[in-house]
Amino acid sequence: MIILGIESSCDETGLALYDTAHGLLSHALHSQVDLHTDYGGVVPELASRDHVRRIVPLLREVLTQASLDRRAIDAIAYTEGPGLAGALLVGTAFAHGLGSALGVPVIGIHHLEGHLLSPLLATPRPDFPFVALLVSGGHTQLMHVAGVGRYTLLGETVDDAAGEAFDKTAKLLGLGYPGGPALSRLAANGTPGHFKLPRPKLTSGDLDFSFSGLKTAVLTVARQNELDDQARADLAAEFQAAAVDVLVAKSLAACRQTRSTRLVVAGGVGANSRLRSELSKAAGARGIEVFYPDLAFCTDNGAMIAFAGAMRLGALTEPGPFSVRPRWDLGSVAAAA
Ligand code: KG4
Ligand code: ZN
Repeated sequence: MIILGIESSCDETGLALYDTAHGLLSHALHSQVDLHTDYGGVVPELASRDHVRRIVPLLREVLTQASLDRRAIDAIAYTEGPGLAGALLVGTAFAHGLGSALGVPVIGIHHLEGHLLSPLLATPRPDFPFVALLVSGGHTQLMHVAGVGRYTLLGETVDDAAGEAFDKTAKLLGLGYPGGPALSRLAANGTPGHFKLPRPKLTSGDLDFSFSGLKTAVLTVARQNELDDQARADLAAEFQAAAVDVLVAKSLAACRQTRSTRLVVAGGVGANSRLRSELSKAAGARGIEVFYPDLAFCTDNGAMIAFAGAMRLGALTEPGPFSVRPRWDLGSVAAAA
């Protein structure tokens, strides 16, 4: 069965074809970074219009890559939410229109479920159950995953998401959007420890996170010091180290609490190389295996939506409704049969 996946929740249009027998056949992405750069963040109306422009050429591209005609598509999965309402509507309308033209089932997917299952696209593939650290621009959560749709929230951020903290701190340091990759590039030239930043909630005993104070602490240091290039790099390195220390400690605590020996990392911040190296080191010392999506599938993409669709289609008894859910709690997603 061949599933077309469509992602359009924010500033990336991603399409992919996933074959339940042969795995991922093709994927294509258009990033709107250049479009939003001048504004220092995503402009929702511009994002929606760009999705409209990109979606048909991207469909042609994934079909050509896979040497398939559109009649080979057996089902369509699209991001139903959470995300920007107008951007979501583009993917939803396109999925339902194409689904109705081709006479194939259409299914809405929770964006975070896509991220959560994305490490299953990589080799080696983790078995259920596992603990998932979801670190994106909008969310920071620790989940226990017993199976598709069997998600228990263990902890989450009480304020900013990890990616949001990277983005806001990058802005404070005069770096462009998106800030995460830019800040981590700057941090590579600096040394953590020259400036001292807090590790918020490190010893709070729960599995929640807080990142807004860290960003404020960076602002305070920046105001109190004349920062040359080296000092900016040192501050970026200390910020990154502080965020990573907390993410690593809480992830290991979540594994301990749920007696899990498998940890999956998903979402854009999962591309961060310090997070990957520190987590693998600390987890390895405790007999915990860590699974990461391929770098291309850490940030938003169509492959994770096609894959989540493949996992869920078995349970689909009738066409899904035409709907978008700009706000949607992952815990309310039903278990797959
Ligand atoms: O998962 P994603 O593509 O979109 C959301 O669903 O939010 O995540 C985007 C977030 C942004 O905040 C971006 O700055 C961050 O992931 N990010 C990174 C890195 N690459 C992307 N943060 C830290 N280091 C990176 N290398
Ligand atoms: Zn995302």
